[in-house]
Amino acid sequence: MVGMQQIVAGNWKMNLTLSQGQIFVDNLVAGLDGVELKRQLLLAPNFTLLAALARSCAASGIGLVGQNCAFQESGAFTGETSVAMLKDVGAGYVLVGHSERRQLFSESDKLLQRKVQAVVGGGLVPILCVGETLEQRQSGAAYTLVVEQLKSALSDFPDAPLLVAYEPVWAIGTGRTATPEDARLMHQHIRKFLVAQFTWGAGVPILYGGSAKPENAASLLSQPEVNGLLVGGAALDPESFLQIALA
Ligand code: 13P
Repeated sequence: MVGMQQIVAGNWKMNLTLSQGQIFVDNLVAGLDGVELKRQLLLAPNFTLLAALARSCAASGIGLVGQNCAFQESGAFTGETSVAMLKDVGAGYVLVGHSERRQLFSESDKLLQRKVQAVVGGGLVPILCVGETLEQRQSGAAYTLVVEQLKSALSDFPDAPLLVAYEPVWAIGTGRTATPEDARLMHQHIRKFLVAQFTWGAGVPILYGGSAKPENAASLLSQPEVNGLLVGGAALDPESFLQIALA
């Protein structure tokens, strides 16, 4: 969509301690000084860092993202974190359905739909992650699978802010990035779905994730319907994250 501000989001996954995260943000903020940044920056640190990073991120216009949440509002759910708790410590967004959650923690489409609803109900913005495995891509099922994931997680989705992240599983942490063409084709497919599904579907930012780095950021970000990047490994270093943001 013309005029949509691009987004560069860093997902730290289970990396960086509190002091490392604070040093990262300090360096990032220093690097942003005097720079005209056209893109919105988001960071998804571990829950244990959110409260401490909130003030410096807010002061620099960097949005904070929870990496996961419970669908329940509160109660006896040991080890879980509610949307209200994330909001309370300064998160504005929550990642839902990252492939690591789907694959390593058996999160089902049904569960993810409930999480998406919980995020919206709690007043935060879901970043819904979708993407196929290598096997699914090779068998020609990628497009159908991604639409199935979207349909399921977004059933009964209200008129509310939403981000989608296309993260092909075969490109995550592998160094094997989707080609700009792969990304464009899938993003156009996702856009078609969103526009057909929602009157406001043209305005939903669609991020690409999977071995995004300074060397490939510009070519990915120049593709139609690639409205930003969700960066893992290359977002653990403030310099490379900044290079991506400025690519
Ligand atoms: P990498 O950038 O390390 O491939 O990770 C991508 C990702 O999973 C972001 O959520």
